[in-house]
Amino acid sequence: MTEDPYAHLHDERYADAFAPGRVGAGQVVAMGGRRRIPLAGEWRITPDLFDEGLRQRWYARAPDDPAGWTAPRDYDEAGAELAPVPSCWNMLKPEWKHFEGSMWYARAFAWPPAMHGERLVLRVGAANYEARVFLNGRFVAAHRGGSTPFFADLTPMLRAGGNHLIIQVENRRRADRVPMHHIDWFNYGGLYREVDLVPLPAVFIRSATAALVPDGSLSRIRFALMLSANINGVAEVEIPALGLRAAVPMEGGRGEVTVAARPEPWSPASPRLYDVVFRCGADLVQERIGFRDIRAEGEKLLLNGEPLYLRGICVHEDDAGGGKCTGEADLQRRFADARELGANFLRLAHYPHHERVAEIADAQGVLLWSEIPVYWAIDFANPETYADAENQLLELIGRDANRASVVAWGIGNENADTDARYRFMAALAEAARRADATRLVAAACLINREEFAIADRLAAHLDLIGVNEYFGWYEPDFAGLERLLANSRPGKPVVISETGADALAGHRGGVAELFTEDCQAEVYRRQLEIIGRSDIVQGFCPWLLYDYRTERRQTRFQRGWNRKGLIAEDKATRKLAFEVLAGHYRGLRDRNA
Ligand code: GCU
Repeated sequence: MTEDPYAHLHDERYADAFAPGRVGAGQVVAMGGRRRIPLAGEWRITPDLFDEGLRQRWYARAPDDPAGWTAPRDYDEAGAELAPVPSCWNMLKPEWKHFEGSMWYARAFAWPPAMHGERLVLRVGAANYEARVFLNGRFVAAHRGGSTPFFADLTPMLRAGGNHLIIQVENRRRADRVPMHHIDWFNYGGLYREVDLVPLPAVFIRSATAALVPDGSLSRIRFALMLSANINGVAEVEIPALGLRAAVPMEGGRGEVTVAARPEPWSPASPRLYDVVFRCGADLVQERIGFRDIRAEGEKLLLNGEPLYLRGICVHEDDAGGGKCTGEADLQRRFADARELGANFLRLAHYPHHERVAEIADAQGVLLWSEIPVYWAIDFANPETYADAENQLLELIGRDANRASVVAWGIGNENADTDARYRFMAALAEAARRADATRLVAAACLINREEFAIADRLAAHLDLIGVNEYFGWYEPDFAGLERLLANSRPGKPVVISETGADALAGHRGGVAELFTEDCQAEVYRRQLEIIGRSDIVQGFCPWLLYDYRTERRQTRFQRGWNRKGLIAEDKATRKLAFEVLAGHYRGLRDRNA
């Protein structure tokens, strides 16, 4: 029977074939010091609003010249447009600004004989939201989650000489995704972080961590390794600057060892990093690691046993020119602006930021709250949605476990308190603790309106309670903030994880005139005066450093931008409130608060 050329028009289960190939946190690869072969540069890119590529199996075709076509088709890779990777397609063409669907990225790469015998893994730094990888016409792997890296083993499909790589990226907003379809930031799409080939030995190190045993003694380092195969053997760890070298017995591909050591503690005042080497068989991983102890004690935060106050600011990953793409200059500017503000803490809202952020924060001594986008009304009753959220959390922890600057894993933001939400987020909190006992588990919670207090039952599973409050803006009466603080005895450390007001840079007027810089500055003055009198607040982290894109905001002052930035979207024009906060943080620093 001849093949029916119309069959694909009637098959709505076309995506089922790709579900079994999903990769996630279980396929992570430890990347410290590894060789990478960048696949940055121009790829062929084809828009696909209806998933024709999956229906018609575009991936099965090699690029060719129309002169050789024997039948009509809808996909023409060789004639497709070129696009840079990394990039967000929304920023490439005006007609793609709001494109929500799939893009098909394609390119070739060589697999030289010198690399034969090694494993070759594809690392995608981030693809928003769902990605599917195809090599030489065959499906390799799928991944969901828009801000964490994933790894696909290409080895079985490689061929000597030229290889044809295709990555489909789909960024539709859906109620069952993490985040769901209603968000207050821009829904960029694309391969927006680095894409690399990573040569690996047959058996390699998937995970290699070193951290102070979280017992407050600052006197023991726990090393843990996991291999790509369930084999027995002996690995080795070394910290030359401490004269430390130890064997790690490996059983079933896993091993750990705890060694007495007194490294100079890492802190904002002294961000001391150590070279740490992990060896096992033919593989070696090198990391620069800071050793510190972060803990909650009553309503206080302690860093290396000393009281800690978080002088913070929230940041999104957004740029007027690059969209969600960031680069070294953009990140160094972010840290320079935060330093000028007097901040010692950044809340990376509302999803995992680029891995360079934690590396820079390690080097510069800035504390981080890093979070997954369990944002607003997530489909909390859906087991698939939970699996997605937990995988993003474990991929984030897998990527940044050795970053001293990350002191808190944020598991959610402004989620209404329902039983389904409580079960979902309590499970996430326990998953974070199982994966990493050396950091705080946090969430940005809503105020308990019945008690008008900081009293979210999720706090029983948190170490650090974030509170988002907008007294002076969404709730004009500042007396509410005083009442809230007076009513609250959380028994755990609290950080104001968001507050602020919109202001269009350059728009001036009275302090009561909304969207003026004067009004925003007044909100900061009043907030700081009230918060400064509270002994249950261990940190202030207002919303946020820069104006950023969001389609929800359409007044004449916003036009698709959230204007709560202390600096405009040009990342240069400071608003009056910047100096109000900077002055406050200088005062705290002078008092070593
Ligand atoms: C919320 C939310 C932010 C949002 C902010 C605002 O607190 O967490 O993502 O942008 O409010 O209203 O600007």
